[in-house]
Amino acid sequence: MANLSVSLAGISLQNPTILASGIMGVSASSLKFVEEHGAGAVTMKSIGPTDRTGHKNPTVYSWGEGITNAVGLSNPGAEEGAAHLEEMKKILHIPVIASCFADTVDNIAKVAEKLLEKEPLALELNLSCPNTEDDFGCMFAMDPRVTERAVTLVKKTSGKTKIFVKLSPDASNIVTVAKAAEAAGADGITAINTLSGLIIDIHTKRPILKNTFGGLSGPAIRPVGVRAVYNLYEAVKIPIIGTGGINTGEDAIEYIMAGATAVGIGSGVYYRGIDVFGKVTEEMENFMDQNGYKSLEEMRGIAHKC
Ligand SMILES: Cc1cc2nc3c(=O)[nH]c(=O)nc-3n(C[C@H](O)[C@H](O)[C@H](O)COP(=O)(O)O)c2cc1C
Repeated sequence: MANLSVSLAGISLQNPTILASGIMGVSASSLKFVEEHGAGAVTMKSIGPTDRTGHKNPTVYSWGEGITNAVGLSNPGAEEGAAHLEEMKKILHIPVIASCFADTVDNIAKVAEKLLEKEPLALELNLSCPNTEDDFGCMFAMDPRVTERAVTLVKKTSGKTKIFVKLSPDASNIVTVAKAAEAAGADGITAINTLSGLIIDIHTKRPILKNTFGGLSGPAIRPVGVRAVYNLYEAVKIPIIGTGGINTGEDAIEYIMAGATAVGIGSGVYYRGIDVFGKVTEEMENFMDQNGYKSLEEMRGIAHKC
């Protein structure tokens, strides 16, 4: 039987599937539910400096080949987010990855510091949310220098917690941004966040989402994610969490062959239900058994050798 365990920047995972940020919120009980359905690790929804209600409905729209969302980073703020994280650490047995965002580099460092007090195994810096209001509209991950500053500041207080940086496929050069994050001490890269998109209802002649623009996720973006991981694998030494459009074990294997160490699953929860993690893991095992792979290590980055 194939071995799916993996070491992600020194963090041991029983299997490489990780709940992507924003899909199951920040409550300990909902993330426990994900653990019970086979995920190797979970990421909490991104926490910002203060509480935000997010955008008005409709905030999510499934359009056939994918999903568009403009939730607007609704979250309870740093203080309450840290309390949820503490609760998660008590009841979950798998690694919990905290996640944060902010309007300025100084503020993201402050939110990070608050979450880091609870000593999560890893903290993901969401530098790449595409669908916020004007005040949060500029993605740090568009600019290597801003990314580098954010990582440098957070690393000052991160202690043993690993710092992952979540990047955007909308950056003009995602590789340059990843290299800047690595140079500043990032322990891993998460690629990719959603792509900015717009869907118009031609009958009402209006954008469908209340926020007009939304982030694209789901199957339609998988080739974009795989391309990003492939390029990043050749450019950085730190591990990559390949994310974007993973619904099946075969999708996850594609990311591993491009060079991912672990895989994030978000919209897959919508497409296949909460047990998507168990299903993907089983399908990966089947593929590996049928093709003679004993470990993920044997497949990682193999697409580069052809
Ligand atoms: C409804 C929704 C909310 C999201 N919220 C966040 C978030 O709070 N922080 C973040 O880093 N990414 C967020 N994302 C992006 C996902 O974590 C993931 O990077 C993206 O959806 C691509 O993966 P997928 O195709 O498996 O969904 C969100 C995605 C969706 C669909």
